[in-house]
Amino acid sequence: MKVLIVYYSTYGNVYKMAQLVAEGVRGVEGAEAIIRTVPELIPESVIESRPDMKAGRDMQKDVPPVTLDDFKEAGAIALGTPTRFGNVSAQLKNQIDQLTPLWMAGELEGKPAGIFVSTASLHGGQETTILTLMAPLLHLGMILVGVPYSVQELFTTQGGGSPYGPGHVAGVDSKRDIDPHEAAICRVLGRRLAEVGLRLQRK
Ligand SMILES: Cc1cc2nc3c(=O)[nH]c(=O)nc-3n(C[C@H](O)[C@H](O)[C@H](O)COP(=O)(O)O)c2cc1C
Repeated sequence: MKVLIVYYSTYGNVYKMAQLVAEGVRGVEGAEAIIRTVPELIPESVIESRPDMKAGRDMQKDVPPVTLDDFKEAGAIALGTPTRFGNVSAQLKNQIDQLTPLWMAGELEGKPAGIFVSTASLHGGQETTILTLMAPLLHLGMILVGVPYSVQELFTTQGGGSPYGPGHVAGVDSKRDIDPHEAAICRVLGRRLAEVGLRLQRK
């Protein structure tokens, strides 16, 4: 079963989280992680003028853009975004808005979905971003998967991560490394999506 990990990342933090979610998926027998990104909306001239954005883009140069078939073929889906004013990035939302043909055909109904997020600051909107992104996923008929409190890192994290989903506090310069607590919560989401997806496929 394929677990699609689709994300947007300007500076690379959410990209690194996607890789950790994939590690969690790969720990489950019968599950395969597919990492895909979405079209950029920042003008090329702006990216070219910003060394930090250029570095983020170069880091991800080999990640293919997601297709509607990727969504169709997935048994479970993880969506990753940086916070933008406490909400989902325009780039990921733009991709979600292009799911209309699958929405009309009911193709995503019954698929488990989870959300991971990066913010600059500790209280900058991880939970609001995840909760607001849940609304379109519910419209699409997906089954939401979070992270339960049996995961000890939810108690010990000094950075990101909550029952709503993995989180990373990237810092004001977006350079803070993903710490071991945040990383563990990312892996758990991948594992849970794979396990729930496989269980739902069993007849
Ligand atoms: C337009 C804009 C809005 C942002 N809004 C927030 C915000 O509300 N809260 C916050 O903590 N960080 C905010 N940030 C910072 C980003 O969330 C941060 O750069 C991001 O998590 C880094 O992820 P990336 O490396 O994957 O791009 C904002 C950044 C931009 C460019």
